[in-house]
Amino acid sequence: MKNIPCLDLKGQHEQIKAEIFDAFQKVYEKTAFSGGPFVQQFETEFAEYVGVKHSIGVSNGTTALHLAMLSLGIGPGDEVIIPGNTFIATAWGPSHAGATPVFVDCDPDTWQIDINKIEDKIGPKTKAIIGVHLYGQPFDVDRVKAICEKYKLVFVEDAAQAQGARYKNSVVGKFGDMACFSFYPGKNLGACGEAGGITTNSDEYTHHLHSLRNHGSHHRYHHDEIGYNYRMGGLEGASLSVKLKYLDTWNNRRREIAVLYNKGITNPKIKLQKQEDWSDGVHHIFVVTVDDRDGLVKHLADNNITAAFHYPVPCHLQKAYSHLGYKKGDLPNSEYLADHCVSLPMYPELSDEQISLVIKTVNEF
Ligand SMILES: Cc1ncc(COP(=O)(O)O)c(C=O)c1O
Repeated sequence: MKNIPCLDLKGQHEQIKAEIFDAFQKVYEKTAFSGGPFVQQFETEFAEYVGVKHSIGVSNGTTALHLAMLSLGIGPGDEVIIPGNTFIATAWGPSHAGATPVFVDCDPDTWQIDINKIEDKIGPKTKAIIGVHLYGQPFDVDRVKAICEKYKLVFVEDAAQAQGARYKNSVVGKFGDMACFSFYPGKNLGACGEAGGITTNSDEYTHHLHSLRNHGSHHRYHHDEIGYNYRMGGLEGASLSVKLKYLDTWNNRRREIAVLYNKGITNPKIKLQKQEDWSDGVHHIFVVTVDDRDGLVKHLADNNITAAFHYPVPCHLQKAYSHLGYKKGDLPNSEYLADHCVSLPMYPELSDEQISLVIKTVNEF
C-alpha cells in the first residue's frame, strides 16, 4: 500500500478546487487582495458560526494572540498563565506584547492544562490565563473561567486547533474575553495561505483590534497609536468562506476516525487521550503515548505509515525561554508527553482501509 502520511492536504483541495478557483477569480477581478469585502464576508460568517458578535480577521494565529494581548492591556511586567504543552505560538502572544508566559503542567490523562495547578502560579503580576483547546479537544472552560473570575484575570481561549469543537454542546471561541484562531493551511479550517482570527462579544475590543491590525489607524494616514500590518488577505478570506461550509462535515469525519482509533487500538503499550463527557472535540491531531516511541515510529514507518510528534519539546524547556530559568522536572507530565507522544495520521480524507491499516499496525507493535 502507498505511504499514509500523517497529514495530507491534497485530497481535500482536489475536492474543492473548482469552488476555490472561482472564489479566487472574484477576488482577482475586484483586486481585493488586502482586507476588503471577502475578508469581511468571512468575518461575518465565522462570527455567526461561533455564535459571537464579532470576528476579526488577521494575518495568522500568532498575530491574533499578539493583538489579543495588546487590546486586553497586557504588556511589560505582566504575567500570563499558559499550558506548558502547547504549540510555542501560545507563548509568543504574551512575549510579543512584552509580558512573561508562566507555564503550568498538564493533566497526565487529558493532556490539557492541569487546572488544579493553576492557582499555585497566580501572583501579583498575573493578568491573564490563555487556555488552549489542544489537539482540538476543549479544556474545562468553566473551571478556568471560575479561577479568572476569582482573581479578576482576563480569560483568552487559544482555539487555533479547535474550529468547531464543542464544550458542553457549544462551539468554542465565545467563552473568554476573546478567542484566537489560526487558519494555517493544515488546521481543521485552514486558508489557502496564512490567516488567523479573533472572536469576541466586545464592541470596544473589536474597535481597537481593527485599528491595531491596520497600522493603528481607523482613517487612512491618521495613526492613533503604534500599530501593525496584521491584516488578512482577500484570497485567504475568500478561501475560508468556501471551506467554512464544509467544516462540520470534515470535523464529523475526524470524529468518526477518532472513534475507530479509540475502539480499535487495544495494544496495552499504547495510551490514548482521556475524553471527558462534556468534550466534543474535533481531533485536529490524534496523539497517543508509548514508552518505546522510537520503536513504534520505526514499526509504523516499516509499514508505510508516517507519524509525527506534537510537541517534542515543551515550551518551558525551549531555548527561547531559557532566561526564565525553568529546568527539567519542573513540569513532569508535559515532559513525559514531549518524550513519548506520537501523532497518528488524522485528516478527513483517510479511507476506512487506511484507518484499519493504522489500527492493525499499531496493535501489532
Ligand atoms: C495552539 C496554537 N496556537 C497558536 C498557533 C499559531 O497559529 P499560526 O501558525 O497561524 O501563527 C498555532 C499554530 O499552529 C497553534 O497550534
